[in-house]
Amino acid sequence: MIKIAPSTNPENEDVLVNYVKECEQSGADFMHCDVMDGSFVPAKCLSLQKLLEVNQNSTIALDVHLMVSDPLVQIERYKACRPTIITIHYESFENKNNIYYALEQIHKHKILAGISIKPNTDWRVLKPYLPYCDLVLIMSVEPGKSGQKFIEETYQKLNDLKNYILDNNYNIKLEVDGGVNAENFLRLYKNGMDIAVMGNAIYKAQNREAFIKKVKEISSNVK
Ligand code: DX5
Ligand code: ZN
Repeated sequence: MIKIAPSTNPENEDVLVNYVKECEQSGADFMHCDVMDGSFVPAKCLSLQKLLEVNQNSTIALDVHLMVSDPLVQIERYKACRPTIITIHYESFENKNNIYYALEQIHKHKILAGISIKPNTDWRVLKPYLPYCDLVLIMSVEPGKSGQKFIEETYQKLNDLKNYILDNNYNIKLEVDGGVNAENFLRLYKNGMDIAVMGNAIYKAQNREAFIKKVKEISSNVK
């Protein structure tokens, strides 16, 4: 069945603890935590302090998306909020050899390791790292903020990557992030998405619980 990861964003940061509780009670599988440093992306948000507070007040699995220029430093900091997943960006690394080291560091803390690519990055650059990953996060908008328009080329990228993963028998989940909503989630699911990150689609839904349940129900009728 599809897994749903509502995302944090500056709009819900003040009410985050309650929002996370609501998402958890509504059947969300993960809380997607967008960490931005004001350097890799212009915005700056989601302090470690805030995530520690979230973790103390809920049991939902945290899926930390590091949109930062210094991932090796931030992995060591954000492990404190006991995330289930930490995802780094391919583009954050000047020396690509350090990607192996970063994935290893994440695993060393018994955390699942994800790698993400921006919309203009070819998925094939990930091939060397896939044997060492648990998840690939495909960005379907430029990283930086919620509420942007979904980039249509994502379907093909997702489908190609899914086939490559299946052909190589890798145990990797595919997550899509940016502009995922009621209109496009099913097509994404059919093209190989395992986890749907949803920011505005859930935060601005009239009835969040009903929305989450509906997405799950519709997808469960597909496979
Ligand atoms: C974008 C973030 C996303 C964002 C998604 O940089 O990584 O996780 O919160 O929000 P929506 O679904 O509103 O595009
Ligand atoms: Zn994200």
